[in-house]
Amino acid sequence: MCGIVGYTGRGPALPVLLSGLHRMEYRGYDSAGVALLPAGGGAPQVRRAVGKVAALETAISESPVDASAPLGIGHTRWATHGAPSERNAHPHLSRDGSIALVHNGIIDNFLALRERLVSQGFVFRSETDSEALAHLVEACRADTLLESVRRALSFVSGTYGIAVAASWAPGQIVVARKGSPIAIAAADGVACVASDAAALAGRADSVAYLDDGDIALLVPGGFEVRSIEALSPVVRPAAPLDFAPDAIEKGGYEHFMRKEIAEQPEALENCLRGRLVDEDGTAKLSGLRMEPRDIAALQSVVVTACGTSYYAGLHGTYAFEQFSGIPSRIEQAAEFRYRNPIVAPETALVSLSQSGETADTLAAVREAKRKGALVLSVCNVVGSTIAREAGRGVYLHAGPEIGVASTKAFLCQVAVLSMMALLFGRTRRLSCQEGRTIVGALKALPDLVRAALAQEDAIVRIAEKFAGARDAFFIGRGWQYPAALEGALKLKEISYLHAEGYHAAELKHGPIALLDEHVPVVALSPLGPGHDKMLGNIQECRARKAPVIAIATEGDSSVDAFTEDVIRVPQCPDFTAAVPVVVVEQLFAYHVARLRGEPIDQPRNLAKSVTVE
Ligand code: AGP
Repeated sequence: MCGIVGYTGRGPALPVLLSGLHRMEYRGYDSAGVALLPAGGGAPQVRRAVGKVAALETAISESPVDASAPLGIGHTRWATHGAPSERNAHPHLSRDGSIALVHNGIIDNFLALRERLVSQGFVFRSETDSEALAHLVEACRADTLLESVRRALSFVSGTYGIAVAASWAPGQIVVARKGSPIAIAAADGVACVASDAAALAGRADSVAYLDDGDIALLVPGGFEVRSIEALSPVVRPAAPLDFAPDAIEKGGYEHFMRKEIAEQPEALENCLRGRLVDEDGTAKLSGLRMEPRDIAALQSVVVTACGTSYYAGLHGTYAFEQFSGIPSRIEQAAEFRYRNPIVAPETALVSLSQSGETADTLAAVREAKRKGALVLSVCNVVGSTIAREAGRGVYLHAGPEIGVASTKAFLCQVAVLSMMALLFGRTRRLSCQEGRTIVGALKALPDLVRAALAQEDAIVRIAEKFAGARDAFFIGRGWQYPAALEGALKLKEISYLHAEGYHAAELKHGPIALLDEHVPVVALSPLGPGHDKMLGNIQECRARKAPVIAIATEGDSSVDAFTEDVIRVPQCPDFTAAVPVVVVEQLFAYHVARLRGEPIDQPRNLAKSVTVE
């Protein structure tokens, strides 16, 4: 998704802009640009380039800007309207060249706006919807930059997160938000804005997140937030900016993804810390703000999410039903928001999102609220839109997840949903002893992950054997079925090797026609319910000459008769067995992608947070 960064202070602004843009590179983009406003006035100096931020830095070195300029805005663009190109890159300038603007989001009525502006003599230089905003601010020019922007936005329908600066408003940046995140911070004579708090790491101790309908004026050392409708002042609480600058570096690993796979034991420990109550065999999740009577009144749980979060959510529905006995289902967020779902005040709608900004999941939250459901969020990014609009929920505390392929967030989502299911269960039918068993199993998760990480050498050997494959299947049953879906997604999204996750019993209903000696099958077959059936499925695959990679329990030799490619995971209860299995899948996908020479952290066509439909 697009990234926004801005700085006003004593300067120079340029280094702050470039480091902020670098810190947002992981989000995925195809062009970048900056606009600098010199201290002595004069038009914004714009430099833009297709490709990475490094290309922008080259463009700046070849055509220098005022390096002492104390104010600037910057942008990384993920194309929505208009192909990746220099002229479609942001910042965009108004017709008179005095106003520079960067924009995240989609202007739904941009064609009508463009026609109207063209009829007024405005000339468009790009194919983008965002350029219309820059011209509109000029067309709506008032006494102040804030009022000019406010008037311009009154004509706009769609989503935006914007930062605007003008030669005639020295020291000022105006920002506004509707549907695309904006974080602002001020300290020691400077003020900053970013669409991702990670870009502000080290610039301030805390950030404030705008809500939809907010507009704010940033000046050196401070900011003021107002409602865009009434212009009345609003207060947005400060959230700790707990990204240590080095936390978003790679920590000696080749890729963020490999670093984040390694961080998983610690991430789980942080996620579980203070939330499991041994004595009572339950979980303490105060952020849900639910009394026992609220939980007892629940008639159903609906989990909604996208991608990897959807697969964690599917695992969660198994936990809700097994631990609490509450009917539970998973819904693709994009389906939920449009199919007029049946929810009621007795429904807990659990929205699962690492970024807390996924457009479809956010829309599902809004739809569920319209229907009166009890909306809960499970997010990783503190203060993210979904977390704030749900108003209650549980944070993952997984730390910043930079790699586009989600890893530690997935495991922490499984852990949080398991704790929620435990809490719901102990409020209903689960006995204290049963609860203590679950508490013990959840506390063991970090060590299960460490055991899986210790299998890396064996996983590399298998990855070397199959890195050249064109197709693969991941199959599992029960708790291993969501894990099969997740393993397939990991492999395809970073190695570009086509992979499908399937319920093992479903193979014979069609997909088995695809099996031959060139199509490896990853069979998730730890000991537990369905293990014997899995052996049968493995034999079905072998009968078609398909190579089988088995993920099996330490000491279980039952799979050895069918394959030599076996990765061992520790024995554990079935409701946690997916965790070490998924870690093995993560490492398998990572090493296949590495062997295939793919970029891994920023896979082609993908973004870390999909904030558009
Ligand atoms: C997973 O590896 C992908 N990056 C993607 O499927 C992701 O899980 C999905 O876009 C949902 O993102 P969210 O958790 O931030 O809502």
